[in-house]
Amino acid sequence: MADIRILMLGDIVGEEAVEFVCKHIPELKKQEDIQFCVVNAENSHQGRGINDVIVHQLLNAGADVITGGDHSFDKHLIFPLMEKEKRLLRPYNYPEGVPGFGYGIYEIKNTPFQIAVINLRGLTFFSNPISCPFRAAEKLLMEIKDQTSLIFIDFHSEATAEKWSFARFLDGKVSAIGGTHTHVQTADEQILPYGTGYITDVGFCGPYHSVIGMDTQTSIQRFLYQTPQKYKLAEGDLCLQGAIFELDTDTGLCFSIKRIQFPKFKTSILDF
Ligand SMILES: [Fe+2]
Ligand SMILES: [Fe+2]
Repeated sequence: MADIRILMLGDIVGEEAVEFVCKHIPELKKQEDIQFCVVNAENSHQGRGINDVIVHQLLNAGADVITGGDHSFDKHLIFPLMEKEKRLLRPYNYPEGVPGFGYGIYEIKNTPFQIAVINLRGLTFFSNPISCPFRAAEKLLMEIKDQTSLIFIDFHSEATAEKWSFARFLDGKVSAIGGTHTHVQTADEQILPYGTGYITDVGFCGPYHSVIGMDTQTSIQRFLYQTPQKYKLAEGDLCLQGAIFELDTDTGLCFSIKRIQFPKFKTSILDF
């Protein structure tokens, strides 16, 4: 029996956050004895989408797989790389013909093990209907289950109830599920009854004095005037949020899950 420790980081928002994440991945991997690192980077390029430069930066810094979400397709210049780079994922349950890969099976370096990473998107509160992530996952698991018992899912979704239902649906069938998309880390990490590690949202990596990464005033105006505003990224202090999942290679299930976040946010006037 061996254990494999997976680091997952939440949606990276903007180029400055990419630099910040790249700077911290090597030390985090070392400190936490991480064997495999998954990062969601759907908002890495100017807050929406991703580009080739960022993909290479993140892979060179030690990310093993880059996942995406509803913003994966915002910058079409990424499409040629998306069609050939298997370490760059977009949600699996988009229609056939959409560029890119929705899952992959990867070697875990310096171990004899492989891990499947699957990226799926939820349906609730998204304007474009894609296929059911529950059924898509079920069907895909039938295809890949003989190849590895280590299966990790980035479930990119808005509604908490959809995320929880998805996790309970797959409990015991996959190693771990880390939620993304809301950019807010949830405090509900747990090992589900049949052994899957789960957290509704691992959080985000980006400017923390913001509205989920967006410039505060711009975001307020969107709601105040109920009109679209030009997207503007927030600037300033950066944070990094994610979770570490420890997996049992014999059972493919999860031993432990731990949230990570730094720097510490101010929760009391006495904090600083
Ligand atoms: Fe996002
Ligand atoms: Fe998203």
